[in-house]
Amino acid sequence: MSLVITGASLLGEKTGDLYVDDSGMFVDEAPSGAETLDADGLVALPGLVDLHTHLREPGREDAETVLTGSQAAALGGYTAILAMANTSPVTDTAEAATRVWELGREAGLVHVQPVGAVTRGLGGEELAELGLMHRSRAGVTVFSDDGKCVHDARVMRRALEYVKAFGGVVSQHSQDPALAGPAACCHEGELSGRLGLPGWPGIAEEVIVARDVMLGRHTGSRVHVAHVSTAGSVEVLRWAKAQSIDVTAEVTPHHLLLTTDLLTGYDPTYKVNPPLRPQEDVDALREALRDGTIDAVATDHAPHARHDKEHAFVDAAFGMVGLETSLGVVRTALPDLSWSDVARVMSVTPARIAGLTGQGQSLAPGSPANVVLVDPDASVTVDRDTSASLSRNNPWHGRGLTSRVVHTVYVGRVTVRDGALA
Ligand code: DOR
Repeated sequence: MSLVITGASLLGEKTGDLYVDDSGMFVDEAPSGAETLDADGLVALPGLVDLHTHLREPGREDAETVLTGSQAAALGGYTAILAMANTSPVTDTAEAATRVWELGREAGLVHVQPVGAVTRGLGGEELAELGLMHRSRAGVTVFSDDGKCVHDARVMRRALEYVKAFGGVVSQHSQDPALAGPAACCHEGELSGRLGLPGWPGIAEEVIVARDVMLGRHTGSRVHVAHVSTAGSVEVLRWAKAQSIDVTAEVTPHHLLLTTDLLTGYDPTYKVNPPLRPQEDVDALREALRDGTIDAVATDHAPHARHDKEHAFVDAAFGMVGLETSLGVVRTALPDLSWSDVARVMSVTPARIAGLTGQGQSLAPGSPANVVLVDPDASVTVDRDTSASLSRNNPWHGRGLTSRVVHTVYVGRVTVRDGALA
């Protein structure tokens, strides 16, 4: 199928038409019989790429499936998502990775790229089948025990050495379990003391970030820091990048806009790991995203069924959904970020980190026909009950966000039209 996307402002700059079909983008030449998609007044970006999505299939299909997560992703403007390994069973074998990849293809709305576990069963001790997962049809290149930290330095070193052989990357959930403590459920500070909630100190994250950049330097392998949440971690990353250490980092939309002060009502919607931090950390994260110290925005979309989330704060599951709102949150948190910078942090760089050469690169001729068309001026009030996700743990419910995803095109096909699944 061919498509002419007319009148969009390309990366927020000059206005032009885009000609696409399932083989990619063209310039200046409408394929005969092409359908027209009116994008007058909209901004065109390459399809978004999410480095950090939790789909709950297999195992917790009551919270999310590959299909519903793909639908939520398409509605959020994504054309590729990386599916984290903490499913049940864990994605720690070539078979498990291939199954997730196949489910993604069957859903057909975005490219679903499985993340492989670093250690067997996320147990932190024995390396998973890293090479076999890489060589499988799924072609896994990103490995993570996300939800848990690869806390044993020796295991982390071996994993980095192993993935280096095929250009893989380890995405670390940086959190020293000894410093964090088993009961921690929010940021450790004056407020956690007042609320009587056990807290995580920022240092529990920062010591692992510091250790891992040194392991990255030692092994010459690639380290990626998932969901950076503190100013101290930013400082370490800035130092590491100045030393040309091969480290990349992501920040979530919620850590760019929400602060720990929201916990005063003990609402478990705001319970997330790593926790929401004070405003000074949020400010440091925004600055780091602007100046490139943090490379990418990744959602950490973490759907949870009501019966896991609607509990007293200390007992509720960690996590919040985020695929459908991420672009609006980024626009709201950083209105000064140019559209080409938005494309850089939400599409181009995440695609590069994940080694997704066929995804999210640019709007230039020859690129894959993955495009998102955004109304830059729209103001949207989020309603969790209209979400495609199966879960309702949505911290943005009732909030106003800037900009709206109007159309999404994946491999030349319209997946979202006028803000609804096509
Ligand atoms: O809040 C979180 N939820 N953080 C994680 O690292 C894991 C995730 C989940 O799987 O629910």
